[in-house]
Amino acid sequence: MLTHADNELLVRTNAGTPMGETLRRYWIPACLSSEVAEPDGPPVRVKLMGEDLVAFRDTSGRVGLIDEFCAHRRTSLWLGRNEECGLRCVYHGWKYDVDGNCVDMMNEPAESKLKADVKLKAYPTVDMGGVIWAYMGPKDKQPAEPRFEWTQVPEDRRGVSKNVQECNWLQALEAGVDTAHVPILHRLLTSDSKRRGGYNPNSEFAKGSAPVVEVDVTDYGYRYAGIRILPGERKFVRTYQYVMPFHQIRPEDMTPYGGPPGRPFISGHMWVPTDDENCMVYNWAYTFDETPLTEWEALETSLGRGPGDLDDNFLNVRNKSNGYMIDREVQKTETFTGIEGVNNQDQAAQEMMGPIVDRSKEFLTASDLAIVQMRRLLIQAVRTVSDGGDPPAIADNYYMARAVDRFIGMEDNWLEVLLPEINP
Ligand code: FES
Ligand SMILES: [Fe+2]
Repeated sequence: MLTHADNELLVRTNAGTPMGETLRRYWIPACLSSEVAEPDGPPVRVKLMGEDLVAFRDTSGRVGLIDEFCAHRRTSLWLGRNEECGLRCVYHGWKYDVDGNCVDMMNEPAESKLKADVKLKAYPTVDMGGVIWAYMGPKDKQPAEPRFEWTQVPEDRRGVSKNVQECNWLQALEAGVDTAHVPILHRLLTSDSKRRGGYNPNSEFAKGSAPVVEVDVTDYGYRYAGIRILPGERKFVRTYQYVMPFHQIRPEDMTPYGGPPGRPFISGHMWVPTDDENCMVYNWAYTFDETPLTEWEALETSLGRGPGDLDDNFLNVRNKSNGYMIDREVQKTETFTGIEGVNNQDQAAQEMMGPIVDRSKEFLTASDLAIVQMRRLLIQAVRTVSDGGDPPAIADNYYMARAVDRFIGMEDNWLEVLLPEINP
């Protein structure tokens, strides 16, 4: 459990809050590159940590992320015309470049110097790995670019998507580092069920003991393992990585869905605060071998992100307003939850805590160790930043963090055996 004060410290991310200022020291996913694919294409609205912004790609291909509201009389620049290296407000024609400078005013005489005094808030961006990343912190503290391995592989080895999640960023992230729930929440009840996602009750994973969780803190976050003893005295280790502040990296076995056996396939999420009661989940998956991903793999269709699973506003079709389309008959006979798709199951569990869970009422056990450790690291980072220091994971020390699941010898130490694979 956490005190109410620590809970507040972790969940509030608007500008000026301790956690908000800490998160602003990192590159933050603002939108998908595909949303602003075309130079001079339509601008998109972006809300990050309570700030209303608009993203657009200008004529020369640069991506701007600026205040959504025009400096003149504050109408939305989402209505704007994206033309000739700037976004022009449709109300009185003020035009802004990607750095937020006002470069033209249609309601002022041509010789007016007024525009030199007008500048909108603008954040630097990087277009990398199919994501537009923004840096919203102090200018002189800009971190190394977010060159995770998944952002660096050829485009056809990677899938990236995003979806709205109707709860605070932290409770979504906490499920991402919670290995204990995986064979429970995501369990299939029959081995011949055709329901998407979930673990076959006869799979090794589902038959294993409750996991022992071991966490190894690094200088970018931690790597950890859920260790399960399987029938026949075999040790199954599923490793994850947590890169601060909100990145999860996990192994994915795609063979049940037709993926080539043994193919490295790693996926993960980023949980980005929209405001205190909503976040955007970025989902990515990649392989570092030579074969392009199939569409099925890239979308992670098996997890509930296939065609038709998302509406035009990135809201899951199965969402809180419709009870995730839970099917109680399916819950009796086929899947543990009765909800279709692994990600929808996660989302249901996280959102149904309410928008901001009260962690002073929790009852944690040893299987929650990774969650406890993550909260500690975040609180520590907030204190460091508040004291004028730098938080972890702003250098290049996490670029090759990977995750695997493996059988290892009963006497083996997972970190010794797997380190060459998870931090090559
Ligand atoms: S409100 Fe934008 S130009 Fe007037
Ligand atoms: Fe899950």
